[in-house]
Amino acid sequence: VGAPAAAERSIKRYTGGFVDEMRSVAMKLHSKDQSKEGEKETQGKPWPKWEPTTDGYLKFLVDSKLVYDTLDKILDKAEFPEYADFRNTGLERAGNLAKDLNWFKEQGHLIPEPLSPGLDYSLYVEELSKKDPQAFICHFYNTYFAHTAGGRMIGKKVAAKILSGKELEFYKWDGDLSHLLQNVREKLNRVAENWTTDEKIRCLQETERSFKFNGDILHLIVA
Ligand code: HEM
Repeated sequence: VGAPAAAERSIKRYTGGFVDEMRSVAMKLHSKDQSKEGEKETQGKPWPKWEPTTDGYLKFLVDSKLVYDTLDKILDKAEFPEYADFRNTGLERAGNLAKDLNWFKEQGHLIPEPLSPGLDYSLYVEELSKKDPQAFICHFYNTYFAHTAGGRMIGKKVAAKILSGKELEFYKWDGDLSHLLQNVREKLNRVAENWTTDEKIRCLQETERSFKFNGDILHLIVA
């Protein structure tokens, strides 16, 4: 048992678009305190009990920006033609993160250099994107969609605890977020229609790695 078996089971269980399968694999990797759809036991402190610091949160924002910059750069370069479909979806975060970091700077905070969680993940996806489009698209989906779900919830909680509730640009989108997401889901489904079962399984199997890398970046909030 493990990721391959879980991925294969999930292929059989769903008849909807491929993005349903991607979501289902991701949801099972959550712990039960993270989501009621989660199947993993909680390890360490449950996230609602996190005690964020401004320094930790800044590390998280800096590493997140690095990763979103990297993803966008890969899509721009489009070494595989399907990457171009995911440019300018309206989900992009790097520009908004730049504004937030600027705001912190104006408040007198020192903006840290990126740390290994963001650096390692950026290097990893950059290399992966050159050789395995299905696996790369898994990272694109998970990184962007996680932020609109759990990421937003966490952002609210952190803002209440350390920013007097100030809502950062990271958590704002131009236009209706659910429409932006739906548009990307449809693109993902269309791209995956051309994939073989093996390619789909490879994409789903990559979810665990995306979860791990993104989880390490999230944990910078309490580092
Ligand atoms: C969705 C919480 C970490 C990937 C969700 C949802 C919750 C949640 C509550 C369901 C939203 C809904 O459909 O109503 C959390 C919390 C986390 C966390 C509290 C950490 C403390 C992660 C990580 C990843 C991830 C590390 C991997 C990159 C996703 C994805 C979805 C999701 C792909 C589906 C989004 C969609 O359907 O549009 N998360 N999550 N989450 N999460 Fe997480």
